[in-house]
Amino acid sequence: CGIIAYAGEKNPLNVLINGLERLEYRGYDSAGISVLKDSDIYTVKAAGKVSSLAERIEADTQLEDVSQLHCGIAHTRWATHGGPTESNAHPHLGQNSRIALVHNGIIENYQELKNDLLAKGHTFKSETDTEILAHLIESHYDDDLKKAVSEALAKVEGAYGIAVISKDEPDTIITARFGSPIVIGLCKDEVIIASDINAIVQHTDRVVYLNDGDLAIVNKEGISFHDLTLKSVQRDEEKITHSAEEAQKGGFSTFMMKEIHDQPRAVRNSVRGHLDFDNATTSLGGLHMNPKELASIDRIQLFACGTSLNAALLGQYFFEDLVGIPCQVTQAADFRYRNPIIEKNTLAIALSQSGETADTLAAVHEAKRKGADLIAICNAVGSTIAREAGRGVYLHAGPEISVASTKAFTTQVSVLLQLAILLGRTKRLDRGQAADILKAIDQLPEQIEEVLKLSDSIRTITEKYTDVHSMFFIGRGYQYPVALEGALKVKEISYIHAEGYHAAELKHGPLALLDEKVPVVAICTNKDSAQKIVSNIRECSSRKSPVIAVVSEGIETPADDSITIPQAHPTTAPILAAVALQLFSFHIADLRGCSIDQPKNLAKSVTVE
Ligand code: G6P
Repeated sequence: CGIIAYAGEKNPLNVLINGLERLEYRGYDSAGISVLKDSDIYTVKAAGKVSSLAERIEADTQLEDVSQLHCGIAHTRWATHGGPTESNAHPHLGQNSRIALVHNGIIENYQELKNDLLAKGHTFKSETDTEILAHLIESHYDDDLKKAVSEALAKVEGAYGIAVISKDEPDTIITARFGSPIVIGLCKDEVIIASDINAIVQHTDRVVYLNDGDLAIVNKEGISFHDLTLKSVQRDEEKITHSAEEAQKGGFSTFMMKEIHDQPRAVRNSVRGHLDFDNATTSLGGLHMNPKELASIDRIQLFACGTSLNAALLGQYFFEDLVGIPCQVTQAADFRYRNPIIEKNTLAIALSQSGETADTLAAVHEAKRKGADLIAICNAVGSTIAREAGRGVYLHAGPEISVASTKAFTTQVSVLLQLAILLGRTKRLDRGQAADILKAIDQLPEQIEEVLKLSDSIRTITEKYTDVHSMFFIGRGYQYPVALEGALKVKEISYIHAEGYHAAELKHGPLALLDEKVPVVAICTNKDSAQKIVSNIRECSSRKSPVIAVVSEGIETPADDSITIPQAHPTTAPILAAVALQLFSFHIADLRGCSIDQPKNLAKSVTVE
């Protein structure tokens, strides 16, 4: 979900709608806006995309005169509590409509709070936990909004990033965070509050990130920062580096295609200044670990969700093959709940594009609680996970807007490989082997360019498969996580059931599902295991499945169609294969007429458990 709030002299409707459009990738089930007008709160909501809300506002005669509007809050939603309906859209109002609230996160004790409010005669219009919070704040309201928010939040269990206005304090916005990000953009004479910087970058590069437990008061006098008991705290201004253009489509019809094409540059940025050819190693300053500390790591725990989890699985191969230490990969929610074993000298790694995924954040807390040495590998600079870990490596991929992750995956793999070289060189990875991989990493941007040139021919192949209901993606070793990622991409954006499988595992079940209507994508980029995967391709063909092979130059297979990518080192070939499969999933989805950047039911960043 996305939050934006504005206080200043501009027409707040324009600023808020523009902000919502930039936040829409975080959720697009419904949207709403509340502004202070004629000493009242005026709210407009719409189910569906932000464009529906914009149309409604445009047609609203009550909003023709904007001269008196100076302050407002808005939200775009990804449904959790309650379906994607207009009544469940934010902002939510209190019982007597004196306050309005937008909220990201989840109120865990909402039922208990709701029962108390029901007993006091409150009635509710939505099925959301947010409406409970709006009523709770209003029930504490006695002409002092900050005090009402502070008292209400003291009763709340769960996660929140909120912005609140009251009709009785026309130029004031109260914002607070606990577990769900809030960033405040500072401009001359105006303030923009948002749940992420993409809604702020076009206005200013000066921001303050709220910490958990912070509450900020924005009014005519300026901004003041407090803890939840309203004690003053000091928060420093930071400068953001990415520009508004980076979060635009740049001539492409979708963010996904733009981000697929960003990859040569993104991967180059992910290695910039890190490759040390003289010593055949890498240098990752953000880790803040000296050689002795690096050498003492003898076990790795990686946790992540979604595409990041698939990147983590590749990391596992790197750490085991190149560093020679055990590495465990865990789905982040499972990490938290299954009582993980953190031994001495374990390095815990949280992997997350957004740095906001609730399950991964919860795993960070669990790892910290168990005393693990923790690093974060994130893309979003200043994100919660990056800040909580306090050290790690940024991907430098630039903003990723498309729900289906692309450049974050390839840069995550690049960074994990760099980390494996660094750790490996403190142990048994020899200079020659490391130098070969450094060279391979250095060649990646050009090789990705070569894969991007295959886009049209990949589209031609996908034309045959747009009507299928099910597909399999198979790979072995380093290509197994790529198979999982290829299948995930197809699922996410084309709504075709797709499963990633270890090629050797097909015969233990999935073969029963194969026939002429179920294509299999086989990834075969490693000469050493090529014969094995060729046998797997034959197994599929003899069940009449059409087979599409993603092969490195020089590898021959009996597949029906082939996508040939440049020959690369075994550790970097998965990145090239992943790019080819991103194009494959994009074209299938595009030919099926799917909404590529905003697939149904999904959100870019899942900030609820
Ligand atoms: C959501 C997104 C995925 C992403 C996953 C993990 O499900 O739709 O694209 O891979 O979250 O996100 P993270 O930001 O933690 O990498």
